[in-house]
Amino acid sequence: MDSGTIFPLILINVFVHLLLPVEGTDYYGRFPSNFMWGLATSAHQIEGAWNASGKSEHIWDRFCHAGKCWKGDTGDVACDSFHKYMVDVQLLKKIGVTHYRFSLAWTRIIPNPLTGKVNQEGLNYYRQLIDELQRNNIIPLVTIFHWDLPQSLEDIGSWANDSLVGYYNHYADVVFKAYGDKVKHWITFNEPWVICWMGYGTGEYAPGIKEPATRPYKCAHTIIKSHAEAYHTYNDKYRNTQKGQVGITMNSDFMAPKDPHNKSHIEAATRAQQFNLGWFAHPIFKSGDYPDVMKNYVAKNSPQGTSRLPNFTAQEIARNNGSADFLGLNHYTTSLVEPLRRNDNVHVTGGYIDDQENILSHDPAWPGSGSTWLFVVPWGFRNLLNWIRTEYGNPQVIVTENGVTDNNGTVQDKHRVDYYRAYITEMLKAINEDKCNVTGYTAWSLMDNFEWSNGYHEKFGIHYINFSDPELKRVPKDSAIFFQKLITENGFPDPTQNNAAVCSQKIFISLVLIFLVYFLG
Ligand SMILES: *[C@@H]1O[C@H](CO)[C@@H](O)[C@H](O)[C@H]1NC(C)=O
Ligand SMILES: *[C@@H]1O[C@H](CO)[C@@H](O)[C@H](O)[C@H]1NC(C)=O
Ligand SMILES: *[C@@H]1O[C@H](CO)[C@@H](O)[C@H](O)[C@H]1NC(C)=O
Ligand SMILES: *[C@@H]1O[C@H](CO)[C@@H](O)[C@H](O)[C@H]1NC(C)=O
Ligand SMILES: *[C@@H]1O[C@H](CO)[C@@H](O)[C@H](O)[C@H]1NC(C)=O
Ligand SMILES: *[C@@H]1O[C@H](CO)[C@@H](O)[C@H](O)[C@H]1NC(C)=O
Ligand SMILES: *[C@@H]1O[C@H](CO)[C@@H](O)[C@H](O)[C@H]1NC(C)=O
Ligand SMILES: *[C@@H]1O[C@H](CO)[C@@H](O)[C@H](O)[C@H]1NC(C)=O
Repeated sequence: MDSGTIFPLILINVFVHLLLPVEGTDYYGRFPSNFMWGLATSAHQIEGAWNASGKSEHIWDRFCHAGKCWKGDTGDVACDSFHKYMVDVQLLKKIGVTHYRFSLAWTRIIPNPLTGKVNQEGLNYYRQLIDELQRNNIIPLVTIFHWDLPQSLEDIGSWANDSLVGYYNHYADVVFKAYGDKVKHWITFNEPWVICWMGYGTGEYAPGIKEPATRPYKCAHTIIKSHAEAYHTYNDKYRNTQKGQVGITMNSDFMAPKDPHNKSHIEAATRAQQFNLGWFAHPIFKSGDYPDVMKNYVAKNSPQGTSRLPNFTAQEIARNNGSADFLGLNHYTTSLVEPLRRNDNVHVTGGYIDDQENILSHDPAWPGSGSTWLFVVPWGFRNLLNWIRTEYGNPQVIVTENGVTDNNGTVQDKHRVDYYRAYITEMLKAINEDKCNVTGYTAWSLMDNFEWSNGYHEKFGIHYINFSDPELKRVPKDSAIFFQKLITENGFPDPTQNNAAVCSQKIFISLVLIFLVYFLG
């Protein structure tokens, strides 16, 4: 071959490289330089050691011991992180995270909240974990309460009893004091919507109470007040010296109108968003009180002249309003919403769902997952982040959970890599294009773990664990490698940009080609 054929060959080769797409991505860019990247877990889902070192029983111990979780599964051992926390920290280090989100077990720290006595052994456990993280340059993001309510508090009426505001405030005070020198990001509650609706409305989650008309509303009311009091305790006693941030984590689907051109569908979707995210976010980030549409619709569906939605006093409204430094967001999926019509024959259970006068569905074209409720809808994430930006005046958002399940635990989890790539790309657009104030992201989850009522059947991890094997070895999945690269590059750099690696790769391949052509020619 002469140079007349070689030169075009080289050009073609370079061209191929320029056009080489990165799988599934249509948008490139980097995250802000101080973006927080992390992985998330919670105490009951990973620690095990359910009765060790003075820990008392909580509602999930009671619920699963009664056989109410998947095939008799319990969190008694889980990933045994109570003993293997140093292994976990090495996993985090290997991925290269800046942050680790984990939760504290109330029952380890204050086994009997009615007396309020602190259990030093329980306190020491988290101190060791925090110190180990610091030795490895990982910053803790701490959830104070992630669903594991002490059984003794359930027994006095749980979140329907106002005295839980005081018990929670004491617990928060103890942990601010104990760990606030090193912990600068506090999350008061994880997903109050799930606590109140799944625990006291449908009863699918612990403690399994099915009172959808009143209990979820009372539960939410007490949790919002508990959050606000803890926030003010931090302000009054610790903020000046510790200089941290206190937020709350809420879960929310994006609520999309089923027919985006139909006015009543658009109204229905807004109503659904307010009944879900707004239930908690409106009092804390907007007005101190529930959204008007929620007040109106609950009253409308309650006996004449009353409402099942409790009222905040003027003083409580003032305490709630603005009581968070950041909004923690757990987001997984999107729902389609249309209004319920009088003759729709679905008005059966009463309460929180019916009060909304909506029908929720999903598009059959959306890919599913290992969970019945989780459909893969990346564009909903960007829409939800923008809804938060416009509704609450662009508060600081930390995405504290996002992820997808399967039931087989495969380490070749291409579907999970695809999910993360697509969702994180939408978050990048929300930050770079729409100016949403998202400052961090912690993926759910560091490893397969105890998925509540679904036991070990639904797996969210980027590390695989064989729960039948007493060693409980953590094995990285392809998604772990994906995160390693994502965090190193702080985003999805444009592969056509002339960075050194791509450049030298192109030169190398071109040289090999030239050599081959000469040699064979
Ligand atoms: C803890 O629970 C296990 C069963 O899961 C039981 O065998 C053990 O005796 C209990 N330990 C304590 C200290 O109560
Ligand atoms: C609420 O808790 C207090 C203890 O703080 C208890 O005395 C009271 O009986 C509880 N209320 C109900 C309705 O259980
Ligand atoms: C809008 O949606 C409502 C409720 O689903 C329906 O009754 C109505 O016919 C729709 N209107 C149009 C113009 O499609
Ligand atoms: C709540 O806080 C916002 C922002 O600081 C303020 O504009 C609003 O007036 C407050 N509302 C109430 C009811 O205090
Ligand atoms: C809350 O206040 C409204 C009016 O401000 C009143 O109509 C309603 O009955 C009150 N609800 C409760 C549960 O006290
Ligand atoms: C984002 O939130 C942080 C913390 O509240 C704040 O300091 C910053 O100014 C906000 N950025 C924008 C662009 O609003
Ligand atoms: C495991 O489940 C995922 C998601 O359902 C699927 O994409 C994958 O093919 C399955 N892998 C194996 C090895 O069964
Ligand atoms: C899980 O561990 C058990 C016990 O060691 C073993 O019998 C089983 O083959 C393992 N399963 C897988 C999928 O490796």
